[in-house]
Amino acid sequence: MRLILLGAPGAGKGTQAEIISEKFGIPQISTGAILRAAVAEQTPLGQKVEKVMQSGGLVADEDVIALVRERFGKPDCANGFILDGFPRTIPQAEALDVMLTEMGIGIDLAVSLEVEAEKIVARMSGRRTCPVCGATYHVVYKPSSKGEICDKCGAGLTTRADDREEVVRDRLAVYEKQTAPLKNYYAQQNKLRLVEGQEELADTTALMEKALVL
Ligand code: AP5
Repeated sequence: MRLILLGAPGAGKGTQAEIISEKFGIPQISTGAILRAAVAEQTPLGQKVEKVMQSGGLVADEDVIALVRERFGKPDCANGFILDGFPRTIPQAEALDVMLTEMGIGIDLAVSLEVEAEKIVARMSGRRTCPVCGATYHVVYKPSSKGEICDKCGAGLTTRADDREEVVRDRLAVYEKQTAPLKNYYAQQNKLRLVEGQEELADTTALMEKALVL
């Protein structure tokens, strides 16, 4: 399966991508996680994008497109992938179409998780992230069984710099302006499915499962 997960920041894309990745045995390609790793390692790309990420803005299209192109070259993408956080602008979606055409493939579905803004702000304040393996938790809705330690790899959990309320609101505004139009882009290709992401995690996961039936 080749899947795009759309949705506002905090809608639950990463959480659902982890579940789908395990179920279908295909990699989750999170541009946000790749960029955060570059920032943590202070690579040239990481140094370039650090400020814009902290402020909730978008990284330049050409930088993100280049890293997705490189990621597609890895062998684990041969049987499919889940794109989590890419594309995020119309130029990125057009570049993705070109890349996939060159590879002789196309996407199966673009699924958009729909969640109200106020619910998102509440979710983000309780999110904890593993800086080592990228696993995502929530202090109430999806706690780690080890408290502030990652269940998967044992690293200490952290709060993302861009999860402060004022930054979350800026990210939501960026989403409405630059990313929400992608729903129309994929609707025109008959690839779009909307999934209600407001419900509890298990209910959202069940709705997602239904939406993925091809
Ligand atoms: P990125 O990492 O992609 O962040 P995002 O899209 O803003 O999404 P999030 O990771 O914040 O949220 P999510 O939808 O994955 O929600 P989650 O599952 O964690 O991007 C970060 C930054 O990188 C961007 O701002 C930008 O600067 C840059 N960037 C990345 N890609 C880019 C691109 N293509 N172009 C340009 N710049 C780019 O869930 C949130 C919380 O809610 C968690 O705590 C979770 O446990 C909980 N939760 C999830 N589902 C439920 C549920 N159903 N009920 C209750 N709680 C739930």
